[in-house]
Amino acid sequence: MESPFKSDVLKGKVALLTGGGSGIGFEISTQFGKHGASVAIMGRRKNVLDGAVSTLTSLGIPAIGIQGDVRKVEDAKRVVEETVRHFGKLDILVNAAAGNFLVAAEDLSPNGFKTVMDIDTVGTFTMSHEALKYLKKDTSSSSSSSSSSGGLILNISATLHYTAAWYQIHVSAAKAAIDAMTRNLALEWGTDYDIRVNGIAPGPIGDTAGMSKLLPDEIGNKTREYMPLYKLGEKWDIAMAAVYLASDAGKYINGSILPVDGGLWLSHPRHLAKEAVKKISRSVEKRSRAAPAGLPTSKL
Ligand code: HXC
Repeated sequence: MESPFKSDVLKGKVALLTGGGSGIGFEISTQFGKHGASVAIMGRRKNVLDGAVSTLTSLGIPAIGIQGDVRKVEDAKRVVEETVRHFGKLDILVNAAAGNFLVAAEDLSPNGFKTVMDIDTVGTFTMSHEALKYLKKDTSSSSSSSSSSGGLILNISATLHYTAAWYQIHVSAAKAAIDAMTRNLALEWGTDYDIRVNGIAPGPIGDTAGMSKLLPDEIGNKTREYMPLYKLGEKWDIAMAAVYLASDAGKYINGSILPVDGGLWLSHPRHLAKEAVKKISRSVEKRSRAAPAGLPTSKL
């Protein structure tokens, strides 16, 4: 699908994306590149990184892949430094790396809980912490315009924790903590360093590891019936939100977490058809005006 944004809205920017070699992370890498950014992608699997980089470079996007695990501080440090060494600076960090599996709370080991917290939450903090010195506002007068304002951190979370989600206690906890970090860093680093920190909370997005792990087809097709827009999102939807937030169009947006889920988090399964509600609603009013015996109208 064609982007509605001009192809140079991220011109001259350098972005580092954790989990940037696959799924939503890769789509953001691609769209950032198509809008003028150079991209460094970080991931654990070399073959995935190699494939992603060759696709990006075939599109004319300056791209490198750097192997690393966000759970290791030394990897985070090395990947950030290698990005800056290769491209000369860092403007945008996207924390998209995540781990997930469906498991009932009672069957989840403490180490299983910790593993997801380490990847999603601690990984996001570690990467942000390592990237800070490069994302800070460059106050030297000779600097280029792209580095004259502070950088951007974009955290990918979820909407699971807005209410509660079956068999996702570890991920809900991890993503809730990420949203909290987004707001706290937006406050601290926005004030001190002119760095914007925002989040995107994707809903169910087709053709992703999250969908195949959490909503296999037989359940996913049923779920669509109570989605406000009756359809899954696309990776493109998330990437367009990321381009918007990373571009100058988002220059006054700081500490926001944008749900991109078609309104699903607001929704609950519909138990009654709309037509049935119309009928029932009128007849209930009539009944209540008649005030059944033993039940005063003031208590209705
Ligand atoms: C119960 C499990 C489990 C499962 C692992 N564990 N899988 N417990 N059910 N299916 C437990 C293990 O038993 C172990 O605990 C601990 O977790 C660590 O497991 P490892 O396999 O050693 O971990 P590791 O190799 O590091 O792999 C991490 C992973 C894996 C998270 C388990 O799935 C992974 O790397 N995933 C990355 C890709 C991914 O999941 N992408 C999906 C993102 S989707 P014990 O106690 O036995 O030692 C997404 C969407 C979120 O983020 C929002 C949705 C709306």
